[in-house]
Amino acid sequence: MLLFEALKADHKKVSAILGMIEKTTEKQSARRKTLFEKFQAEFISHADAEEESIYVPLKAKNRTHDLIMEAYEEHGLVEHMIEQVCKIEPDEEIWIAKMTVIKELIEHHVKEEETILFKKMKAICDTEELDQMADDYQVLKKEKMESQTKGMIDNLVSKVRDKAQQSSQYF
Ligand SMILES: [Fe+2]
Ligand SMILES: [Fe+2]
Repeated sequence: MLLFEALKADHKKVSAILGMIEKTTEKQSARRKTLFEKFQAEFISHADAEEESIYVPLKAKNRTHDLIMEAYEEHGLVEHMIEQVCKIEPDEEIWIAKMTVIKELIEHHVKEEETILFKKMKAICDTEELDQMADDYQVLKKEKMESQTKGMIDNLVSKVRDKAQQSSQYF
């Protein structure tokens, strides 16, 4: 099924980045920043697209309502942790501690989605509905990933501009 394959592939992308982050050291600040930005773009675009294309229709069904409410909360917890990590420098001890918590939260969330939720979806949704969700998910994921990437580039441009302004003050 195209939908489940697409979701699993995106889960794998997120967990691969988190695995790379886990192996970094405090001395690899630049690498940590780059990997974190990649993780943030992948996670946010996946979670937003998943909510709009899959959680909304499944929340309206009795057999998946409670599970979806829980899943929204788990996305929210990860987003809250991401906001916290953004305020910390990657060479601080607490940075990797928070990233480890994010990794554990996501592992738990993905396990529930890929086992309990997917099983229920296969039981209660017909092929047409699953195909519609797959189409919606893929379109939204692409759009959200593009806007996340654009945000990262805008951020980088403004940092370079700030640095250029700072150095021009000295000359
Ligand atoms: Fe999710
Ligand atoms: Fe997911």
